[in-house]
Order: sequence, then C-alpha cells, then structure tokens
Amino acid sequence: MDLHPKPVFEAIGGEAPLRRLVDAFYDRMDSAPEYAGIRALHPPSLSGSRDKLFWFLCGWSGGPDHYVERFGHPRLRARHLPFAIATSERDQWLGCMQWALRECALPEDLQKRLLTAFFQTADWMRNQAE
Ligand code: HEM
Repeated sequence: MDLHPKPVFEAIGGEAPLRRLVDAFYDRMDSAPEYAGIRALHPPSLSGSRDKLFWFLCGWSGGPDHYVERFGHPRLRARHLPFAIATSERDQWLGCMQWALRECALPEDLQKRLLTAFFQTADWMRNQAE
C-alpha cells in the first residue's frame, strides 16, 4: 500500500493533460445523445464551463488555485443548487468523465483513483430525490 501517493496534479502530468481531460469530458457531453439531459443544463457555449472545471480541478488535484483566485471558495454544492441533480444526472456526469479518462489513456490506477473521488463529489451534488 502506498501511504504517500503523488498528488493527482503531478500524477496526471500538470495543466496540459488536465485541460485535455476537461475538453474530452465536455466534448463527450456535447456530442453523445445519452448526455443530452445534463448538456441541456449548461449554457449554449461550453467555453466558460470548460474553463471553470479546468481551473477548479487544478486546485482540487493539488496544483495552482486558479478557481479560488478568480471566484473565491468553490461552494460547489451551493453553486449547483440552481440545477436539478438526481441520480440520473450524477450518473451522466460520471459517464462522461469515465469516457474522458479512457480517451486520455491515463494509467489504470489513476483512472480508478479519480473516478472514486469524482463519484463522491458528484453524489454529494445530488439535490433531488429522483
Ligand atoms: C453531479 C452532476 C453534475 C451536474 C449535472 C453538473 C452541472 C453543472 C452545470 C450545469 C454547471 C454550470 C455551467 C456553467 O456555468 O457554465 C456546473 C458548474 C460547475 N461544475 Fe458541475 N455538475 C455536476 C457535477 C460536478 C462535479 C462532480 C464537479 C467537480 C468535480 C463539478 C464542478 C463544477 C464547477 C467547478 C462548476 C463551475 C461553478 C461556477 O463557478 O459557477 N460539477 N455544473
């Protein structure tokens, strides 16, 4: 057991690979019909969403705090309250992310580590019973 795993930011290879992951995630959401439900919650242009998720994930993974510098504390659950998020939306979000992790061909153990962490955050974002 590794008691001191590398911070995710380092393990993934820094900002450029993290940005590729975010772009793959939103490209998938923008093109696959099974994610039309959560795509419709987002603005017509995804460029702001791409930047925000990328900035957030930089800090969240142990890299530079771009998001907090611009917007302050993330308050992620509160910022998602305007959007109805139930199990289906959570699973769509995770489905896009799982696809993006594979598309970016990240090492298996890093994919698993990230997916477990994303599951916890996405599950906590649910604000509707069903
Ligand atoms: C559970 C399913 C989720 C849904 C349906 C969802 C949906 C959304 C939507 C519609 C927006 C607004 C986009 C915009 O303003 O351009 C947003 C913003 C955001 N989401 Fe999510 N999201 C989910 C989970 C997550 C997770 C797991 C994370 C982090 C790991 C995350 C991070 C963010 C961030 C950082 C923002 C920008 C917040 C802001 O500054 O306004 N989201 N999300």
